[in-house]
Amino acid sequence: MKQSFFILYIVLFSFFSVPTVFAQKGGKPISDKLMGIFFEDLNYAADGGLYAELIQNRSFEYSPSDVDLKINQNNNWHFFSAWSIVREPSSIGTLSLESSQPIHPNNPHYLMFTTSTVGSKGGVGIRNSGFNGITIKKNEKYNFSIFMKAVLGENVPVIIQLVDKDNKVLVESKLVIDSADWKKYSATLSPNLDADIENASLVLLFQKKSKVALDMVSLFPENTFKNRPNGLRKDLAETIAALKPAFVRFPGGCLAHGDGVDNIYSWKRTIGSVEQRFEDRNIWNYHQSFGLGYFEYFQFCEDIGAIPLPVIAAGVSCQNSSRSKGTGQECVPMEDMDQYIQDILDLVEYCNGSVSSTWGKKRVEAGHSKPFNLEYIGIGNEDKITPEFNIRFKMICKKIKETYPNIKLIGTSGPFSEGEDFDLGWKAAKDDKVTAVDEHFYKKPTWFLENLNRYDSYSRTAPKVYLGEYASQGNKLFNALAEAAFMTGLERNGDVVEFASYAPLLAKIGFTQWNPDLIYFDNNKVYPTINYYVQQLFSVNRGTVYFGDIIDQDKNSKELASSCVQDSKTGDIILKFVNPTDKVTTMTVDLKSFKKIISNATLTVLSGNKDGVNSPKEKNLTLPVESDFKATNSFDYKLPAYSVSVIRIKTRNK
Ligand code: AHR
Repeated sequence: MKQSFFILYIVLFSFFSVPTVFAQKGGKPISDKLMGIFFEDLNYAADGGLYAELIQNRSFEYSPSDVDLKINQNNNWHFFSAWSIVREPSSIGTLSLESSQPIHPNNPHYLMFTTSTVGSKGGVGIRNSGFNGITIKKNEKYNFSIFMKAVLGENVPVIIQLVDKDNKVLVESKLVIDSADWKKYSATLSPNLDADIENASLVLLFQKKSKVALDMVSLFPENTFKNRPNGLRKDLAETIAALKPAFVRFPGGCLAHGDGVDNIYSWKRTIGSVEQRFEDRNIWNYHQSFGLGYFEYFQFCEDIGAIPLPVIAAGVSCQNSSRSKGTGQECVPMEDMDQYIQDILDLVEYCNGSVSSTWGKKRVEAGHSKPFNLEYIGIGNEDKITPEFNIRFKMICKKIKETYPNIKLIGTSGPFSEGEDFDLGWKAAKDDKVTAVDEHFYKKPTWFLENLNRYDSYSRTAPKVYLGEYASQGNKLFNALAEAAFMTGLERNGDVVEFASYAPLLAKIGFTQWNPDLIYFDNNKVYPTINYYVQQLFSVNRGTVYFGDIIDQDKNSKELASSCVQDSKTGDIILKFVNPTDKVTTMTVDLKSFKKIISNATLTVLSGNKDGVNSPKEKNLTLPVESDFKATNSFDYKLPAYSVSVIRIKTRNK
């Protein structure tokens, strides 16, 4: 009897026990979500970037109005952008843009291709050059799909080819259009290559007199991140995942509150089948397919173990970008605010609602019956704090709190580290008792070094801080070190700073609208910056308890910085040292209050040339270097010039 009770106890214990929690007494609990990421579709971060779709303008919805001619005067953006005709002299084919009886009213345009004369060399058709060329990888398979209907002719064959820049066919497949109604056709293309091929394109050829309607022409690598259908580019997503971010903020940035009220990001338009999503111009002057939409964002968060942190406009648009009116904030009319707020409530239901709820059902239809566990919503993005903002912000917060008291709201405080909007934004957040306030600042590295103590004096009883956007205006090692030094201050104040995210995250080389960014990429490769490695060092070495009296550093130097945290899940003690100067300097570490340290520790150092940049052409990249370290109860650590060092020391639980 006793024995079976003991077995039951073991079984129950192993079912219900949480990871061992232990931290030395005497520390200050800090946020375990401090380091996360900020994702915004600017710099071609989504279409042509993280979203793995290789066909540009797959749905013929690009439009000249996507681009503001005041900003980009050389624009030749149109419904057939990225598409061209493929023909030989003896063949005749024409294309036109049509809009009657589309696949779905949200996706109103499609291409009609009429083949009048096939010619002698294999047909006539169309080519898509992708996002400035398609890279076809060795050992990769490609999933092609398309919606078509035969308007004239029956059983119309279509040849699908991937061709290199000299038109050499890399792989080919054949489909037969056997319906006069819209129908989705698919093929897997498996090129057999010795090496990756850059600047390839997709060609569709018609070899029979016919008239064919085409839409949603799509090509994805089979290997997307976590093999998700409609998924993300693997190498980019893996680089982001390697940051181990505690949270992902999306979809912006300015993109969230949009260029005028009609351009406010509407999450409902971004879910469901991709052919039924409403596409729109991007505040950053290009087109958004929304193939990477809210479902995909939540899925990505889950896949990388991060908390989702969506930011919704506070019923007002971006004050800086309204192209229709020239300048200024536009507001959702008061009579539309109830519906606007209902859309936010529906988002909570989409994420957390039961499988039988109206919006929970849509999550299930997308293949996700489990909830996404939405906990936080940001309301507003660095808005001008006008009376119009205030009234809408208040209405939104009140209704969400009444309906979903467990959802934590994050307010906004303008685009700068101080000033009128900063003060008014904080006031609104305090008045409405939100959980945290989103601060943004892009400053010189010297500013960061002069403001290491920024949060030391923040109230511990007011809303917490979400440092939602920050960067030190450069990708040199010195910039990254200034950010690292500042981040030790975030850790020290991790009781009031709940979240922090460097911004922006991604930039496509050649399409960069905002510099600096954390990760650069092109169609072939990913180039993490030195700033990226600093973010990673801090993120993978997060703690839950901060200790202020462990590291003794030269009090006269205002630039040196250090911190000591412990991760209560593992018991690991993590020491960080930042030296943004040209002098080697020593700090003394006293770990005597931690009684059970294990001497075999690891040291990771990122150091180098102050002006070094990990640009694509750079041969000598500045990378973190890990080595063994012998930790003792008390030791001196010599900080190399221009360096950040992390020492991770294991402790014994008993
Ligand atoms: O991060 C780039 C932009 O900077 C964001 O869209 C905006 O919020 C800020 O001004």
